[in-house]
Amino acid sequence: MASITRDVFGTLPDGATVERFYLQSESVRTEIISFGCIITRLETKDRHGNFTDIVLGFDDLESYTKKHPYFGAVVGRVANRIAKGKFTVNGKDYHLPINNGPNSIHGGLKGFDKVLWTPEVIENGVQFSYTSADGEEGYPGELRVWVTYTLVGGDLTVNYKAQTNKTTPVNLTNHSYFNLAGQGSENIYDHEVSINAQHYLPVDDTMIPTGELCPVEGTNFDLRNPVDLGSWMAELKEIGFDHNFCLSESQKKQTCARVHHKPSGRVLSVCTTQPGIQFYTANFLDGSLKGKGGAVYPKHSAFCLETQGWPDAVNKPQFPSILLHPGEEYNQTTSFQFSVK
Ligand code: BGC
Repeated sequence: MASITRDVFGTLPDGATVERFYLQSESVRTEIISFGCIITRLETKDRHGNFTDIVLGFDDLESYTKKHPYFGAVVGRVANRIAKGKFTVNGKDYHLPINNGPNSIHGGLKGFDKVLWTPEVIENGVQFSYTSADGEEGYPGELRVWVTYTLVGGDLTVNYKAQTNKTTPVNLTNHSYFNLAGQGSENIYDHEVSINAQHYLPVDDTMIPTGELCPVEGTNFDLRNPVDLGSWMAELKEIGFDHNFCLSESQKKQTCARVHHKPSGRVLSVCTTQPGIQFYTANFLDGSLKGKGGAVYPKHSAFCLETQGWPDAVNKPQFPSILLHPGEEYNQTTSFQFSVK
């Protein structure tokens, strides 16, 4: 059984209170706030039993309210990129804010990471709910969303549910930046990674998938067996990983990725019902942000494993659909499982 306690994290400019929830088991301690459903702290044990905070973030609420790289947040209504911020549903064209080169990313200018959610303590965790108005950030339909975090032993599970009154794209993920050596460590080169995917999605120069599925076999995207990130990334022609890996579309929860930090013994396994996972090696961090405890976060100082639908799926009929229709329920679950080896 996890213990759950709460306090006040801060106050928004409009006077609203942001609460912080502490979820603790014998092996994991995490802190999650009602603004953006952000995981602000996540401590796990190393092989000697010492707890360290392994996610990047800020000490204060104000930093989370400003533009930042989505540290720890729930991202939506549609995570990842939509080409040129345009899509068509039921014959009607929709235009979203352009906030990433020529494209729209992570829900727009004020996505789910920048709104206040309503919290409710439940067994082993906390549930946050939010109603996104029809037309919010350009998306159709009123969308009711529930994000539930539960902690059982070493497993932190996130469940996402949503219902709409008009057909809309929905793609929700958590955007935590991990460094299993401890947040503030210089890089992730001493991490070993595997991703259980036979295909990945190549992208154009604006990072929109070209539409083909590329077999990983014989490429640097073949992570089916564990690789040492440092030497592997040195071989990569790109600045790092920032790609969607295609998972089986069975809707059954499957283990899709595993990261092992040998020096500390920390292991993170990710299990999900989602059809894709964006593996991002924090290529765009540049050390300019002031992180927790005065930490700086340079390029490659963290990794994200964002389980989700495929980028630009709303414009690519050959990709698994991310459309949610009235009367249906969006229901996806991802577990982050922490252990030591
Ligand atoms: C994207 C990156 C982006 C980061 C922060 C990731 O999901 O794949 O390209 O820089 O989010 O926005």
